[in-house]
Amino acid sequence: MDPNMAIVRAPDADLAAASAAFLPFDDTLYLDCAARAPRLRAVQAAGHAALDADAAPWRAADAPVEAQLESLRASVARLLGDGDGDGDGDGIAALPSAAQGIATAAHNLELAAGDAVLVLEGQFPSNLLPWQQRCVERGARLLGVRREEGRDWTTAILDAVEREPRLRIVALPRVRWDDGALLDLDRIAPRVHAAGAALVLDLSQSLGALPADIARWRPDFVVSVGYKWLLGPRGLAWLWAAPQRRERGVALAPHWSARDAGTGWRFPLDAAPPYRSGARRFDAGGLDDPVRLAMARAGLDQVHAWGVAHIAAALGKRLQAFDEALDAHGLSAWKTPEHAPHITALRPPAARLDAVFAAFRRERIVCTRRYGLLRIAPHLHVGADALQHVVGVAAHAG
Ligand SMILES: Cc1ncc(COP(=O)(O)O)c(C=O)c1O
Repeated sequence: MDPNMAIVRAPDADLAAASAAFLPFDDTLYLDCAARAPRLRAVQAAGHAALDADAAPWRAADAPVEAQLESLRASVARLLGDGDGDGDGDGIAALPSAAQGIATAAHNLELAAGDAVLVLEGQFPSNLLPWQQRCVERGARLLGVRREEGRDWTTAILDAVEREPRLRIVALPRVRWDDGALLDLDRIAPRVHAAGAALVLDLSQSLGALPADIARWRPDFVVSVGYKWLLGPRGLAWLWAAPQRRERGVALAPHWSARDAGTGWRFPLDAAPPYRSGARRFDAGGLDDPVRLAMARAGLDQVHAWGVAHIAAALGKRLQAFDEALDAHGLSAWKTPEHAPHITALRPPAARLDAVFAAFRRERIVCTRRYGLLRIAPHLHVGADALQHVVGVAAHAG
């Protein structure tokens, strides 16, 4: 086996040895896992090996694509806390994007004229555009929760849920994509259920970095991309559907791979063959790509090998060191309150933003700048000392 394909076990609690699992970064400090995961050696090697094997399509693959996909479903379900130990892949559909997962949820949830759908203001567009379209189609209303200065998102959401008598759907992230603000789903989910609304979660910015608990939150649908905290390739996202949502419902574009056409693989004119079981009915076509599947496998294997609770704790310590460094430099006002363990954002005063970002560029510190924020989203390739250096650069800029 190519030694690069090996999954890295990091025996220490801080997962300090985990940095060896990633490809080198030249002299760049990459702080943008919230945009795209840094590449694991194992993911790169698995992708290359699958591409080489795929050059000879007449040779049977070691593992048929369907079996690969089944094992990925189980792996993702395990991250969501669905099923005992091994994960119950029955609830997972494969799609090319989170937006397609949200659109599938929107298409299959009941919504009548005058009903309300609740989202956050500034929520990622993949969890906004499908709701905008659905509300127009159904004559429903889209409500955007706004957070007032000094209040947290969770309180703002609970208030909005309380106020709206015709609430039908609540579609939320767990962690905000722009500044890492963390929502308390343990408090929000029961109130959404009590209001009789469906709950749809976009966990693209938390699955693989924070332990998830769908048994507790009881969402109707959950989506996540695979190329951020799941450390996999682009073009492969996941949709989890609650048991009651797997029994009926349609994919946005019907594809033969979602159908059980029997051993004769027949598609009669008068009626389509039955759906495959579980959430597979929502599967999109075109995902039988061995390269993506192999890369996704390697990414998920590494996440499981480290353990999500360990990843969360280790990244949490790193960002705590970052916040403490800001305090030490007298920059407490630049911190994001109540951020998740793995994502935060620097909030320099507007007059200093350009200078701080230019200094980052000079020092080859890579992060996303948007809406006056500098998002900081390291994975385990970044140590606490590097993050303290970032604060030093910010403090002396401009
Ligand atoms: C919260 C969130 N959802 C979804 C996505 C991406 O979704 P899609 O696969 O639809 O491009 C992102 C990417 O930044 C994101 O931050």
